[in-house]
Amino acid sequence: MIRVGILGATGYTARELVRILLRHPEVEIRVLTSRQEGRPPISAVHPQFAGRLELELTPTEPHHVAGQTDCIFSCLPHAASADVIAQLADSDVRIIDFSADYRLDDAATYQEWYGKRHPDPERLGQVAYGLPELFREQIRESKLVANPGCYPTAAILALAPLLKSEWIECHTIVVDAKSGLSGAGRTPKLTTHFVEANESVSPYSVGRHRHMPEMEQILGRIIGHRPSILFTPHLIPMDRGILATVYVRPTVNKSEDEWLDLLQTFYEGEPFVRVVEHLPATKDTLSSNFCDLTVRLVKERLVVFSAIDNLGKGASGAAVQNLNVMFGFPETLAL
Ligand SMILES: NC(=O)c1ccc[n+]([C@@H]2O[C@H](COP(=O)([O-])OP(=O)(O)OC[C@H]3O[C@@H](n4cnc5c(N)ncnc54)[C@H](OP(=O)(O)O)[C@@H]3O)[C@@H](O)[C@H]2O)c1
Repeated sequence: MIRVGILGATGYTARELVRILLRHPEVEIRVLTSRQEGRPPISAVHPQFAGRLELELTPTEPHHVAGQTDCIFSCLPHAASADVIAQLADSDVRIIDFSADYRLDDAATYQEWYGKRHPDPERLGQVAYGLPELFREQIRESKLVANPGCYPTAAILALAPLLKSEWIECHTIVVDAKSGLSGAGRTPKLTTHFVEANESVSPYSVGRHRHMPEMEQILGRIIGHRPSILFTPHLIPMDRGILATVYVRPTVNKSEDEWLDLLQTFYEGEPFVRVVEHLPATKDTLSSNFCDLTVRLVKERLVVFSAIDNLGKGASGAAVQNLNVMFGFPETLAL
């Protein structure tokens, strides 16, 4: 039995993680942390766990958590997460970090996009990126895994086979994506206020969203040079789900069936990537760890559609998939 701890247990990703782990036969949740005072029970912040998980929220004391666990999931915001993880460098505990802190290759890019000095710069560029479909062997061996961002998961899974094939231009890629509001976390903000978000779809962070360099760097690791991606995210009034529509220019003359074949061959045997013929919708992947992909050829452009649940394959489902890879369990266990 693997003993796990969850840091930042009051948030949305942690809630989804607990929900999945409660049905994992090889995992026991031992520690849940929060800055909340008075050690409330988890059911006080996530009432759906009443009668199912009797644990109090405790302060985030890294060595105390590591002493009681084999694996820590950090569901903390960026910077706060690396502050804690840096303190566990000498510990044997394995860590899956939900934040962006260890996803990028270098501290300069982190500082440019996150506006902060990285708290643990030495490890950047050496941490496995938690997409088993692309980095399974590195994840298996890793003590620390950087769980991917939600938008990058949808975009990278769509683009990796195309870029690897060298059948598309790598400097004219457009990723247009829509996300449900849980992608912004549980802490209330003006943009996620019901009155602002309901009955409205709005673009945000145009040209400056932090997931853009993540997509470029991770795809660059796969093909050996950095593609250029124009990424525009939108908030839409639903709880969860991401639909990414990816526009690329082919460099070869292939039929729609051949493009579909390329994706099918690339993801053959992958339990969580479904290459489908119909146009995917976020609802098809709701509360699951699936990523649904398909293609359409329109006016000499290839359009790829990628649907995930941001809290599933985009966060907590992926984290459990990574745990399964790291500890040698069947990859689909609990998922
Ligand atoms: N939401 C998504 O779809 C998604 C997808 C992929 C990755 N992520 C990443 O996963 C992490 C968690 O996201 P989330 O959506 O679960 O966020 P969230 O709902 O806002 O929860 C984050 C939790 O961390 C704790 N926290 C907040 N600020 C903190 C600080 N400065 N120091 C220590 N603890 C702090 C809070 O708990 P207390 O106030 O109780 O201490 C909060 O409940 C983030 O790094 C996010 O970028 C999110």
